[in-house]
Amino acid sequence: MEYVIGLDLGTGSIKGIALSRDGEVVLKHSESYPLYNSREGYSEQDPEDWYNASVKVLEKITKDLEGHDLRAISISGQMHSLVLLDKENNPIRRSILWNDTRTTKQCQYIMDNFADKIIQITGNKSLEGFTLPKVLWIKENEPENWNKTKKFCLPKDYLVFKYTGNICTDISDAAGTQMLDVKEGKWSEEIANLLNLDLEKYPKIYNSTECVGELNDELKEKLNVKGSIKIFPAGSDNPCSALGSGIINKNRDLLSIGTSGVYLKYEEEYKNYHGRLHMFNNVLPSSYYSMGVTLSAGDSLTWFRDTFAKDKSFDELLSGVSNVKEGANGLLFAPYIVGERTPYTDSKIRGTFIGIDKSHDLNHFARAVIEGITFSLKDCFSIYEDDSDRDIISVGGGAKSKDWLQIQANVFNKKIISLKIEEGPSLGATIIAAVSLNWFESFEDAVKVIVKEKECYYPKEEAVEAYKEVYSRYRRVYGNIKNI
Ligand code: XUL
Repeated sequence: MEYVIGLDLGTGSIKGIALSRDGEVVLKHSESYPLYNSREGYSEQDPEDWYNASVKVLEKITKDLEGHDLRAISISGQMHSLVLLDKENNPIRRSILWNDTRTTKQCQYIMDNFADKIIQITGNKSLEGFTLPKVLWIKENEPENWNKTKKFCLPKDYLVFKYTGNICTDISDAAGTQMLDVKEGKWSEEIANLLNLDLEKYPKIYNSTECVGELNDELKEKLNVKGSIKIFPAGSDNPCSALGSGIINKNRDLLSIGTSGVYLKYEEEYKNYHGRLHMFNNVLPSSYYSMGVTLSAGDSLTWFRDTFAKDKSFDELLSGVSNVKEGANGLLFAPYIVGERTPYTDSKIRGTFIGIDKSHDLNHFARAVIEGITFSLKDCFSIYEDDSDRDIISVGGGAKSKDWLQIQANVFNKKIISLKIEEGPSLGATIIAAVSLNWFESFEDAVKVIVKEKECYYPKEEAVEAYKEVYSRYRRVYGNIKNI
């Protein structure tokens, strides 16, 4: 049997899956690594930890599939996090991650001085998470490290480098740096000039589907694998996850509720959302995707469970929500427990429960929490003016509860589809390798075989009407709590 491995270099762990030539996921394994939060707002990881964990994942999979032929490794990963390499190609310091918030001052500087230009070139407002403000922070606070930097790259690019010797990135991760001219698909000289950045330090950009090298002999020996093993740079976790969920055209959007929540739409061409949504280049050739992000989606539910119902599993916690009607009998929850990205980009705002009544019990609160998370994602969706004819694929924690899936259908007033296998970004990465190796003629063909639907949830008229009113009250929460 021939197979490819898809890796997803996440924030908590690296996950690998093996996909056979006939499109079945035959094996998976993950390994975790530490996250360093040395000061409030700081979030860092060590690239060597990523590499060592990735080798463990590859060792486990290749050992379990001994006698079969590994053909390629394709890699997706967390977006925006900054890796600095010196002239010997060693990491200069720990990587500053996408969820590190130390760069507010740098974002402010960029937006105060070049807001129009930056949105026009990169399609996005400057946010703490993105790579560009991190680079400015390094220049300002650790100039010796910037001077030592021969190349910067993104997390999954570090693995690509260790496997092949090629320091490069792919178009989707390049877009997430906020240093790319997203329409041209090239590093922006204008941004480099405005901010006094040296283009020599930028990595070469490939398409996500391009082979950027082969696995080196040392690793092949360690893994006991033979022949040519191609390495694909796949891309950022969000578009890889969308591909792995079958989002390959404009007929379907993705609603993903993990720690954070994402509402993602495939875009055939560049569209100017004036920074209200993120707009990035896609892993699918010559296309884009837009997305809105709820910072604490599943994370809000986890916080609620851990704080108020520690003894309950998530299934137990949600088992009573169907006994409560739409709107939780007047109880509203806003999930801004670590601030909010879309639509407010406000790192200072905090969450709230409003309308607590003596009649409310744990079921009302649990329902209000999942409704609030869903409303926040509807806020992202509401930015799209044209909401016609699109179904929604729902994945992640939000797709594990039938009641929550039905709430999503009613709040969005859309057909919601759940999937049989949810392997997230690593599945998208394997699809890229499988199509690039010509195992499938097109992405459409690959998705038809690999991505399997489970159930459909349809909006129920009465509940849709009830939610219109509740959502309009939710919309007024932000402005009011901001004043308080
Ligand atoms: C997207 C973002 C996160 C990371 C998580 O802009 O910051 O979704 O990609 O890995």
